[in-house]
Amino acid sequence: MDKKSVRDVDVKEKKVLVRCDFNVPLKNGVVADDGRIQAALPTIRYLIEQKAKVALCSHLGRPKGKPQAEFSLQPVAGRLSDILQAPVEILNDCIGDEVESAVADLQPGEVLLLENTRFHAGEKANDPDFAAKLARGFDLFVNDAFGTAHRAHASTEGVAHHLPAASGFLMAREIEALTRLKDNPAEPVAAIFGGVKISDKIGIIETFLNKSEILLIGGSMATMFLKVKGLEIGDSFIENEGLDTAEEIMKKAGDKLILPEDVIIATQIRENAENKQVPVNKVLPGWKIVDIGPKSIDLFINKLKEMKTIIWNGPLGVFETKPFDKGTKAIAQGLAELNAEIYIGGGDSGAAVNQAQVAHKMTHVSTGGGAFLEFLEGKPLPGITALQDK
Ligand code: 3PG
Repeated sequence: MDKKSVRDVDVKEKKVLVRCDFNVPLKNGVVADDGRIQAALPTIRYLIEQKAKVALCSHLGRPKGKPQAEFSLQPVAGRLSDILQAPVEILNDCIGDEVESAVADLQPGEVLLLENTRFHAGEKANDPDFAAKLARGFDLFVNDAFGTAHRAHASTEGVAHHLPAASGFLMAREIEALTRLKDNPAEPVAAIFGGVKISDKIGIIETFLNKSEILLIGGSMATMFLKVKGLEIGDSFIENEGLDTAEEIMKKAGDKLILPEDVIIATQIRENAENKQVPVNKVLPGWKIVDIGPKSIDLFINKLKEMKTIIWNGPLGVFETKPFDKGTKAIAQGLAELNAEIYIGGGDSGAAVNQAQVAHKMTHVSTGGGAFLEFLEGKPLPGITALQDK
């Protein structure tokens, strides 16, 4: 995929619209995990150094096509100002007269942030008129939002029809790493999948069922397989519509499929709720499976020791509720000790390697969730397709 990169175009004193994926988690109005902001810095810093005039844009959350204060990018502007140690002004909108005059007044090396693109219905509708308004006043479009590249929206796809369009460094790095994983992984390959819904992951599971030696499953997804095996799962959450899929995968995977041997069960999903470790065939009625147990952690890491490539997507327990994040974090730590190429995708798996401080030991930690999955399934991503070829 030979797409033009920001390095292939003249950006000096050019007005550049940069699409970032600043769809970051917020807690009490503050950025709770700035991984996606950090990941965009190489492109932003390069453009500043090259004396470009930079306007950043992004979506945040899923507002309904109109301004909603809780989805403002204001906290991102604050975090960016801290990181860049320079004020990053945020405008009230991403199109319109105020934006056009602020962009016209930008000085070389200056950066400003436009407000949430999803405050307009034209964004998700990929309305050509809205895309033309976004492009107005700019010389160039740089797409660095890999995490949103699977969406054909005005700020990811439509705008590329109105301006010369190149990838940013993050986009280029994601494409390079994930192309290697998709087309030419060192063998044997293992895949670890977790999370809640099997229906969201069926494509990637099928893809890696063919490529992998072993398929390790945790999270609610594993609970579905336990249910298919006829085991008691108590009050555990499962996606009932996914049970047939789980059964089908189980048949296809045969010995490749590795499920937890023991699990942590709890009376409720609440921080520090009463919990205990039990073998998978001893789940108590009325209790919920909330994590994989220590035996499963050892089993998973031992199985992975022989592997040359490992892909991991999805938490193995209720990661957001302590202490049910233990299994997911232990797998992150275990992976860091292995001699394999390791690729991580999805918010919770990425957060787990960050929290375990082992992200630097991974071959690639993708900023994509849905985009990571669709790219590896071989689907064309509209945000990438729309960029100019070299
Ligand atoms: C993501 O977090 O996966 C991307 O930012 C895309 O967000 P979306 O699923 O709301 O389109």
